[in-house]
Amino acid sequence: MRLLMENATVVVSGTKIAQEISSNRFEVWRLIQQLRGLGVDVAGHPATGYQLRTVPDLLLPEILQRLIRGTIFDSHLHHYYKIGSTNVTAMSAAADGAPEGSVFLAEEQTAGRGRGANAWHSERSAGIYCSVLLRPVLPPSHVLVLSLAAGLAVGEAIRQMDSRVQIDLKWPNDVLIGGKKVCGILTEMNSEIMQVRYIVVGIGINVNHASFPEDLVGLATSLRLESGSEWSRVELAAALLKSLHREYREFLEEADAKKSILRRFAERSSWVIGKVVRIEDGGSDFEGACEGTTEGLDERGFLRVRTTQGMRTVLSGTVREK
Ligand code: BTN
Repeated sequence: MRLLMENATVVVSGTKIAQEISSNRFEVWRLIQQLRGLGVDVAGHPATGYQLRTVPDLLLPEILQRLIRGTIFDSHLHHYYKIGSTNVTAMSAAADGAPEGSVFLAEEQTAGRGRGANAWHSERSAGIYCSVLLRPVLPPSHVLVLSLAAGLAVGEAIRQMDSRVQIDLKWPNDVLIGGKKVCGILTEMNSEIMQVRYIVVGIGINVNHASFPEDLVGLATSLRLESGSEWSRVELAAALLKSLHREYREFLEEADAKKSILRRFAERSSWVIGKVVRIEDGGSDFEGACEGTTEGLDERGFLRVRTTQGMRTVLSGTVREK
């Protein structure tokens, strides 16, 4: 793929590719077939050589690395054409000692994971499916705020690419446009009681999806559907990683970072104050579902809801508009 992209306008002979990858022309043909199977548009055959018909918008480390130089994410980028889940891969790499700042990107996920028991629709080369590995020295109680900061970073990256797109943040981790979900974040961690070992922040952004499966219609949207034109996934992924880097550095280094994150999240979310909601899935300091009006975030980042039985704190669960 790298060779074809470096020579995007010319035909590259099978022999040259074979030499470069220390292999033979049959193996080159097999790899080209594999790339075609993954949706890369390659013209030609063993006798004539190969040429990319269009330069694909793939999230390749060689391309991304240049765009995110100077961030903690610029050295350990891993790219997969097809994988079960980048979060699962990142968690297992973390357990094997992968360094902080490792990034796992996929063109397609066959078992993309959402919050709770949900799956994440991961159409090939339409979205950004990205997991980053962090190793902050933190008690686990601070991780929710870090995860809220990831939502801010996504919003910031989208705004940088197109300031006309109106983003709303839904507590804890959804990014919405016009009430529909354009991005979900799944933060997972491995922790001792007092100290986090590692955190994986998994981000799924619907970028160039032209449509969604029936069960997501009305619930999900993509940047392309909202803006009317295709987006560069590479540029958006670079903007995302740069903005995640900024938020993470600030979170670790600035004395009042937590306050700033909670304030900015509340400012950019129509859900945090004054929204009439129903909380489902029992994720709170009370039994069963509850209804009420949101009254801001507490200092740990949990959502406060005023109900007829008094003030409740939502610890997890699903928040729906009433
Ligand atoms: C949600 O339910 O809103 C969270 C969705 C998170 C999806 C992303 S895609 C990249 C990473 N890998 C996964 O399996 N899930 C996250």
